[in-house]
Amino acid sequence: MCGIVAYVGSQGAMDVVVEGLRRLEYRGYDSAGVAVQTPRPDGRWALATEKRAGKLVNLEKALAERPLPAGTVGIGHTRWATHGGPTDLNAHPHLDDHGRVAVVHNGIIENFAELREELAGRGHTLRSETDTEVVAHLLGEVFAGDLAEAMRVVCRRLEGAFTLVAVHADQPGVVVGARRNSPLVVGRGVGENFLASDVAAFIAFTREAVELGQDQVVELRADGVSVTDFEGRPAVVREYHVDWDASAAEKGGYDYFMLKEIAEQPKAVADTLLGRIGADGQLTLDELRLDDADLRAVEKVVIVACGTAYHAGAIAKYAIEHWTRVPCEVEVASEFRYRDPILDERTLVIAISQSGETMDTLMALRHAREQGAKVLAICNTNGSTIPRESDAVLYTHAGPEVAVASTKAFLTQLVACYLVALYLGQVRGTKWGDEILAVIEELRDAPKQVEQVLRTMEPVRELARSLADARAVLFLGRHVGYPVALEGALKLKELAYMHAEGFAAGELKHGPIALIEEGLPVVVVAPSPRGRSVLHDKVVSNIQEIRARGARTIVIAEEGDEAVAPYADHLIRIPATPVLLQPLVATVPLQVFACELATAKGHEVDQPRNLAKSVTVE
Ligand code: F6R
Repeated sequence: MCGIVAYVGSQGAMDVVVEGLRRLEYRGYDSAGVAVQTPRPDGRWALATEKRAGKLVNLEKALAERPLPAGTVGIGHTRWATHGGPTDLNAHPHLDDHGRVAVVHNGIIENFAELREELAGRGHTLRSETDTEVVAHLLGEVFAGDLAEAMRVVCRRLEGAFTLVAVHADQPGVVVGARRNSPLVVGRGVGENFLASDVAAFIAFTREAVELGQDQVVELRADGVSVTDFEGRPAVVREYHVDWDASAAEKGGYDYFMLKEIAEQPKAVADTLLGRIGADGQLTLDELRLDDADLRAVEKVVIVACGTAYHAGAIAKYAIEHWTRVPCEVEVASEFRYRDPILDERTLVIAISQSGETMDTLMALRHAREQGAKVLAICNTNGSTIPRESDAVLYTHAGPEVAVASTKAFLTQLVACYLVALYLGQVRGTKWGDEILAVIEELRDAPKQVEQVLRTMEPVRELARSLADARAVLFLGRHVGYPVALEGALKLKELAYMHAEGFAAGELKHGPIALIEEGLPVVVVAPSPRGRSVLHDKVVSNIQEIRARGARTIVIAEEGDEAVAPYADHLIRIPATPVLLQPLVATVPLQVFACELATAKGHEVDQPRNLAKSVTVE
């Protein structure tokens, strides 16, 4: 949600900043803007800025027509609008009355109305409708030669969540950043340094990063970085090496990041399994910093997550309860803390998040910890806030996910959930070692099986194109197929902007079956006939019921399942897997389906309207 980049060094700052914004555009694309420090003929310095509503390309065009003066210190922003519409005026950076300080911001300043009134009372003219602009005016007021000190003073007055990055014309060679509940990382180069919402922005220049903690202010110069808390006390920070390179964040010959990320799933699944099994055949999850005694004492598991990550959690529930016999609840993170959930030190809360920055999930985990529960994060982003604030973390190794619609992160979240469930089964003794090994072996087959599904997707693409004019699509499933149906519907909504709903197939007769009309496409995820056959039989009946009412049935069924064939207008085959692992293969055709249908409708697949990749507001 909003991307921020800053550069101090010897290269042309605008080139570095705009390149960084390109890599962060997935975070928001309502507007983009930059500011650069430039020397004036009288020996003083000035700030030059440019900003444009709409995608980054609008800003790039403006900069090509009217380049900013050269400079080696600059900041940039790509926006997902919260306060004030997506206009040129509301685009960041925002300046104070004298144009001496420029600020970019990610997050929401909750007390901005009060600060705005106060500033107006002191004669300031606020031009935009944003909450950010108050910070520029406040910084301009308190600045007395040290921007970092001014930032600390201002941050102490702010409420809410924010990453702020600022430059001042009267302190050349310096960029200052601050963070509270919103991401900001430092990239350390040689004779140059970077700040960004995400390492992707500077990965082409350096892979050495510094993680900033909560309520910290960073001062960046070409030859150094210093970090304090909001009171000015030196802060301890963690340095780390980013283990992927710039090519991982490029499209690599695909038209869209989403296509590339769908294709990367076999590797992402294999990477997430890598190194988890010790020489003795025992599962060892070394990043899991909870001790076994804690895990043995767990009486309840609660999973919190949003969107696609929530669907991974909904699938995990089946595996956790089946393999460990520990009751497991799953809840959308945004609802969790408001219902006063019953939590104590015997509750294990699992927070699932690709970005590690989703505010709803972060607030849920904070609430859980306040109540004494232990929190385990499943996350794809090293150094992000959610794993940092958790008692334990299991990283997924999907690599950078750039397309807004989550694909490879989802599959790796599933793998991580299965591993956690097996681990719980291992330490609690509810699963024998050989049973665990058998599941691990089945998981090890998953990359090959996903690859096989990907090889057979042409008919799915063709079908998707033929449905470009459909008004709605329904998705049905039972057991783990139900969250898969929800995920299929979510993908279609967010990418193709169509009415798409997922239902538990058994619920159909309690109301939704009234939606079925002649020709309505209905995707059904059929469970394996080799599992609990009663489940399979029920789904076959459901398919017949909807077909009898005119639905055009699209059935995802495993190879060899002939019972569904007579009732499927379109049959999508997936490899046979154990029942609980089926989502790893059944979700893939639904991702391909949504991506192709959206493309056929002429939509922007990587950047769907109104959305952003990382949702850092509640
Ligand atoms: C949908 C999608 C979102 C995210 C959700 C949580 O394709 O990507 O629903 O899954 O916003 O994001 P993370 O996993 O970053 O917490």
